[in-house]
Amino acid sequence: MTQTKTQTTLVLGGTGKTGRRVAQRLTALGRPVRVGSRAGRPRFDWQDRATWAPALDDVAAVYVSYYPDIAIPGAAETVGSFAELAIRSGVPRLVLLSGRGEPQAELAEQAVRASGAELTVLRSAWFAQNFSEDYLLGPVLAGEVVLPAGDVPEPFVDADDIADVAVAALTQDGHAGQVYELTGSRSLTFAEAVGEIARATGRQICYLPVQIDEYAAAAVGQGVPAEVVELLAYLFSEVLDGRNARIADGVRRALGREPRDFTGYARHTAASGVWDIPAAIGADR
Ligand SMILES: NC(=O)c1ccc[n+]([C@@H]2O[C@H](COP(=O)([O-])OP(=O)(O)OC[C@H]3O[C@@H](n4cnc5c(N)ncnc54)[C@H](OP(=O)(O)O)[C@@H]3O)[C@@H](O)[C@H]2O)c1
Repeated sequence: MTQTKTQTTLVLGGTGKTGRRVAQRLTALGRPVRVGSRAGRPRFDWQDRATWAPALDDVAAVYVSYYPDIAIPGAAETVGSFAELAIRSGVPRLVLLSGRGEPQAELAEQAVRASGAELTVLRSAWFAQNFSEDYLLGPVLAGEVVLPAGDVPEPFVDADDIADVAVAALTQDGHAGQVYELTGSRSLTFAEAVGEIARATGRQICYLPVQIDEYAAAAVGQGVPAEVVELLAYLFSEVLDGRNARIADGVRRALGREPRDFTGYARHTAASGVWDIPAAIGADR
């Protein structure tokens, strides 16, 4: 089949938690995909603007997942510049992954909108997959999740739902101009979320709330880079202060169905084996 300019989708963060799923879905639909990451061909690096134009060559739409976080200082300027280049390169359709209740993330949304793009914003809750594909996997495997998250409820969203909405916005008309707040179907405290994972795995896993200062000091002691500690402290003190506890209807508005439930996420993730601990480590648990 001849591929026309209007088909290829650039998926930034295309090897990450949401981008990987977006790329898989587009490929399954028979749509050409270019993964935009430092491992991509051509390479794409947010820190190296010379890599942006080659990645945009011959592209019709872009899924924009910024790294490390859309709310960090400088992110708005960087994604805004990228969006301007996309428009100048003849790429009108952008789908931006953003965060909920974060003024800094909204600045980034505005910067992208100002480019004149046909923009869909996915304002997402905390990903369930942080427990299985990111920094909370180690603690789950260790049987103890220590976090400065108190007992604030969070409507964890499934990355598969984010990817479904992203693909709809990238491939169908009617989503440009929309801001979709993406959450799960109910809010859970971290204690409840960890409890669901424990039930699904049949293992004892506990949640231990700590103060933010204690958490940051321990992270520094474990050699976590200062900027990462700063980012985590920001996320836990601001994003998880209760402002985002309510559920939202973005998944239903975009897809006409309810979001996936956390219990289902915990069950199928447990079945995948990612939370299995090697026998040598697990023998004494
Ligand atoms: N995690 C959440 O709960 C959550 C909730 C709401 C919003 N968000 C937003 O989601 C976005 C992605 O965060 P995430 O934690 O989910 O990450 P992620 O998408 O799981 O993983 C990182 C991805 O970014 C790429 N990457 C890393 N450094 C890069 C660089 N310098 N230039 C280009 N690509 C780079 C990685 O590929 P390479 O290593 O090959 O470059 C990988 O594809 C952030 O903007 C965050 O604000 C996250």
